Amino acid sequence: MQPSCKKCCNFVGCKLNKTTMLLEKIEALRGKLNELKADNEEALEALRIKYLSKKGEITALFAEFKDVPPEQKRELGQKLNEIKTLATERINALRESYKGQAKEQNKIDITRPGFPAEVGTRHPLSVVRKQIIDIFTRLGFTLAEGPEVEDDWHVFSALNFAADHPARDMQDTFFIEQNKDDVTRNIVLRSHTSSVQVRTMERRQPPIRIICPGRVYRNEAITARAHCFFHQIEGLYIDKGVTFADLKQVLLHFAQELYGPETQIRLRPSYFPFTEPSAEMDVSCMLCGGEGCGFCKHTGWVEILGCGMVDPAVLEASGIDSTVYSGYAFGLGIERITNLKYMVKDLRMFSENDVRFLDEFRSAH
Ligand code: PHE
Repeated sequence: MQPSCKKCCNFVGCKLNKTTMLLEKIEALRGKLNELKADNEEALEALRIKYLSKKGEITALFAEFKDVPPEQKRELGQKLNEIKTLATERINALRESYKGQAKEQNKIDITRPGFPAEVGTRHPLSVVRKQIIDIFTRLGFTLAEGPEVEDDWHVFSALNFAADHPARDMQDTFFIEQNKDDVTRNIVLRSHTSSVQVRTMERRQPPIRIICPGRVYRNEAITARAHCFFHQIEGLYIDKGVTFADLKQVLLHFAQELYGPETQIRLRPSYFPFTEPSAEMDVSCMLCGGEGCGFCKHTGWVEILGCGMVDPAVLEASGIDSTVYSGYAFGLGIERITNLKYMVKDLRMFSENDVRFLDEFRSAH
């Protein structure tokens, strides 16, 4: 039907023009109704209200219908009824299909393969601690552990620290109980795991071949390069005729197992109260192989541990005859070894438990 106004479409009160507008609205609505989408009960109810309720769009069209001239009422009435039926049908159809989908979703297909359970990752420090322990246990070292809250004797006195040694100072050590008049009665958080070596020497006679992994505490401000706690592994070997050459050979083996067979070591003289002579050990830079690069500050070497021959006074303090026995000891920080292996720049990452960081070690076992 092509309705036309005899006078003009802007003619106020032109019933024909009303009819045209109504027809256009009906057609536009038909288009919209065919595109309707809803996948839950709330969305469907919203559609029903939008189109079919008392204030809905279709009800509004019926209100306009009363202005349609009588000769067009039949045809338009039919179209209006059609559109109302269409809306009802579309909404019902959507309800059916959404219910069908929900049913489909609830069906459990027991033949589908299951999802593998997400397993956690080992902490990088645990990974490296295990690697280090494995290397030494293959050489016959056994594990020894001791308390983190220690007395002064096991952390300092038995290890030849003078009463006024700066390591005993507030700046280094956390005190649980501090005794101003007699430092040997202090109770502290251990600042190294050498305390476990003392405990072992007190309990046993040589041969002693142990490694002591554990957490240690030092009173330092927390930065990217220092933390108030970290993890150490210390080693101790005491027997008849143990020499510095034994120490050197064991440490070379350790470095090559850890960083590869090409790795070289060098020992620099150093000082620890409990060893004499004492040394610090460097390994050839794992990035440039010793050529010199930014990482090793162009020296070709990176420091990894402290070591030395156990001072006879330390053996005697624990009841071991230093005229019969000699021994070596070494100590390293697990964080430092891990940093060098995985290039972790910031120490704080190890204790923040950021899953994104920990996840990066998924394959390192
Ligand atoms: N205990 C020393 C430290 O914590 C390391 C070390 C152990 C040095 C054994 C020599 C021998 O720094």
